[in-house]
Amino acid sequence: MFLSTTLNSLLFAFLAQGSPLPSEHNRIGGVLICNDPNGQGHCEYTVYELEKCYDLPPELVNNAATFAPDDAPFYCYPYIMECGGICTSPTGCTMGAVNYEYEHKFNLTEVGWNKYITSFECHLNKTADASP
Ligand SMILES: *[C@@H]1O[C@H](CO)[C@@H](O)[C@H](O)[C@H]1NC(C)=O
Ligand SMILES: *[C@@H]1O[C@H](CO)[C@@H](O)[C@H](O)[C@H]1NC(C)=O
Repeated sequence: MFLSTTLNSLLFAFLAQGSPLPSEHNRIGGVLICNDPNGQGHCEYTVYELEKCYDLPPELVNNAATFAPDDAPFYCYPYIMECGGICTSPTGCTMGAVNYEYEHKFNLTEVGWNKYITSFECHLNKTADASP
């Protein structure tokens, strides 16, 4: 009992201080976006609404090598143009669906997209198994 209370207060103190490392979340719509690979550089973590387009803030637009959705049943389409922009590319102006499983989410440089994301929109993954 004493030990677990101590651990809990330690954990609370740690969380209250805020960790500089990308922390693990599991919120639907939660996405960590950073300038550099591996959650480095300027980062923003927000739980975004689904089915809604978001323009990246000035600190991250065309400069995001980390795009890491939470471990939850949803995925996002990062876009090359801003929300409402006209897409003229036959490939759809997106790098495709990015979810928690996406292997390059912590280094988009590997797929050449670190200088391209301007906006994104997330969707519920209806085929994912919702049970724990
Ligand atoms: C990210 O990927 C690029 C291109 O493959 C590579 O040069 C770079 O070392 C990688 N960065 C990290 C931190 O892994
Ligand atoms: C949806 O979830 C399933 C099961 O986890 C997964 O195989 C599939 O890749 C996901 N689809 C997308 C677009 O994320």
